[in-house]
Amino acid sequence: TAPVITVDGPSGAGKGTLCKAIAESLGWRLLDSGAIYRVLAMAALHHQVDITSEEALVPLAAHLDVCFVAQDGKLLVVLEGEDVSNEIRTETVGNTASRAAKLPRVREALLRRQRAFREEPGLVADGRDMGTVVFPDAPVKIFLDANAEERAQRRRLQLQERGFNVNFECLLAEIRERDDRDRNRAIAPLVPASDAFVLDSTSLSIVEVIQQALGYVQK
Ligand code: CDP
Repeated sequence: TAPVITVDGPSGAGKGTLCKAIAESLGWRLLDSGAIYRVLAMAALHHQVDITSEEALVPLAAHLDVCFVAQDGKLLVVLEGEDVSNEIRTETVGNTASRAAKLPRVREALLRRQRAFREEPGLVADGRDMGTVVFPDAPVKIFLDANAEERAQRRRLQLQERGFNVNFECLLAEIRERDDRDRNRAIAPLVPASDAFVLDSTSLSIVEVIQQALGYVQK
């Protein structure tokens, strides 16, 4: 089987940027598992499916018509033929995703789809449980952390680039709420795998994060 590098961590830690850099430097595929949860949330909102109902969400998750399309160096997220790359980035969708993500059978329904990304020459997998549940046998695992204020700040800049203007205090409160839900859920809680390299990026620039992570990967 193809090698996998897993990168897990809380919201806004910079996993996306790091994973993209690692994937580009190695020429490997990329899995943004969070985008799958976000797309599921969007589909549920579109089809007015009750986000707290496992019963209703499982078939939606199992038949989710989502694909990732490379275009101009970016990966577009396509739901039912429609480009939803921007819409899925709102905090409303993120929050809805984290509520759906605590349902065990929903996670189960998305497992196979995520594992299918593992292909030669290798995969960089971004998420919350990549190293603990989805790819427990991955030879390299990174857990990227940062304090909540720093993550809210980064998220605000990132949302601004996408044309969303969000209040810092609101964002911080939402990040804390999501952290709490992701860390304390009964299934696949957000924790570093026992064999993960934990990287605290609070006082590091993105360039420094990439350097340290690539240094670890190449060891
Ligand atoms: O972009 P951000 O880091 O804020 O979130 P994301 O990675 O896009 O994921 C959105 C939500 O999906 C998270 O808050 C998690 O609750 C959930 N998720 C998960 O449970 N497991 C994953 N492997 C990825 C995301």
